[in-house]
Amino acid sequence: MNNVRVYVAGHRGLVGSAIVRRLEAAGYDQIVTRTHAELDLTRQEEVEAFFEAERPEYVYLAAAKVGGIGANSTYPAQFIYENLAIALNVIEAARKYGVKKLLNLGSSCIYPKFAPQPIKEEYLLTGPLEPTNEAYAIAKIAAIKLCRYYNQQYGTNFISLMPTNLYGPGDNYDLENSHVLPALIRKFHEAKKAGGPVVLWGDGSPMREFLHADDLADAAVFLMEHADAKDIGEFVNVGTGEDISIKNLAELVARIVGYSGEIVWDTSKPNGTPRKLLDVSRLAALGWKYKIGLEAGIASTYKDFLLRHNR
Ligand SMILES: NC(=O)c1ccc[n+]([C@@H]2O[C@H](COP(=O)([O-])OP(=O)(O)OC[C@H]3O[C@@H](n4cnc5c(N)ncnc54)[C@H](OP(=O)(O)O)[C@@H]3O)[C@@H](O)[C@H]2O)c1
Repeated sequence: MNNVRVYVAGHRGLVGSAIVRRLEAAGYDQIVTRTHAELDLTRQEEVEAFFEAERPEYVYLAAAKVGGIGANSTYPAQFIYENLAIALNVIEAARKYGVKKLLNLGSSCIYPKFAPQPIKEEYLLTGPLEPTNEAYAIAKIAAIKLCRYYNQQYGTNFISLMPTNLYGPGDNYDLENSHVLPALIRKFHEAKKAGGPVVLWGDGSPMREFLHADDLADAAVFLMEHADAKDIGEFVNVGTGEDISIKNLAELVARIVGYSGEIVWDTSKPNGTPRKLLDVSRLAALGWKYKIGLEAGIASTYKDFLLRHNR
C-alpha cells in the first residue's frame, strides 16, 4: 500500500509532521506536501488546481487554524471561516478528483462542554459547546458532517478521527496560547534555570488525557490502511483511554525536566472542566491501542524542546 500518492495537508504542524514521519518510516515514497505559503487551502481555485495537477489518491487533512482560548475568543470569525473553508475546499476537491480515501481530523474539544465521562462518540451534538471555542468547534463538526454526507451521497470513503489532547515534537511552547503539557515543560525548564517557584492555576485536581502525536499518526495510518468509513461510522475517538490529574502531571514533568523547586497551586484561578477523557472502545474494536507511555513521551518531547529551542 506504500506505493501510492499521498497528500498530507498541514505537514509542518504537530499532527501533519508526525503523519509524514510515520508514512516515511513505513516506506511511502510519494508523499506530496505544500506549505501554507505555497498553497492557501482557504482558496478554492488554488486547491482544485493543486488536486488536478497532483492527483493524490489518499489525503490526510491535518491543516487547520488552531489556537488556545485566547486566540479562539479574540478571532472567532477567522477560526470559523478558515476552518470551514479548508474543509469545504479539500473535501470537495477530494471528491471531484477521485481521492480513494480521505482522513479528516476532529478534536475532543468539540464535544459538548458537559458531556458525560468518558466521552463516547454518540455524545457529539447532544449539548451546548464550550463558548470560548464554539466557532472552531462548529467548523470542525461541519467537516465531520461533510465527510459523512459525502460518503452517503457520493459513495466516497472519507473518515474522521476525534483525537484527545496531543503533545510531541514541534509543539507550540508560546505561553500565551500553548496547551497544558508544553506550557508545563517550558515553565519547569525556565524555573530550573532561573529558580522557582512555579505557580500553576487551580488546585491540580482536574483529570486530563494525553496522546503522543506519533501515536496519533500511527492510529491515522493504521485506520487509513485498514478501516473504511463503513467500519468506522461517522468518526472514531483516538486517545489512550487513561487520564492523569494535572497535579500528578506537573510532578511528572518537573521530575523529567529536573526541577526540584516548589510548585505553588494558585487556587484563586479556575480549574476548568473536572475531567476530560475519551471512551476508546470503538478504536480498540478496530484493532488499535497506543504505544507511547506518558513518561517516555514527555522525556522525548523535552529532548526535542531542548534541541529546537537551543536551550
Ligand atoms: N494539537 C492538539 O492537541 C490536537 C488535538 C486534537 C485534534 N487536533 C487536530 O489536529 C489537526 C492539526 O492540528 P495541529 O495541532 O497539528 O495544528 P498545527 O500544529 O497548528 O498545524 C496546522 C497546520 O495547518 C497549516 N495551515 C493552517 N491554515 C492553513 C491554510 N489556510 N492553508 C494551508 N495550510 C494551513 C499550518 O500551516 P502554517 O503554520 O504555515 O499556517 C500548519 O502546518 C487540527 O484539525 C486539530 O483540530 C489537534
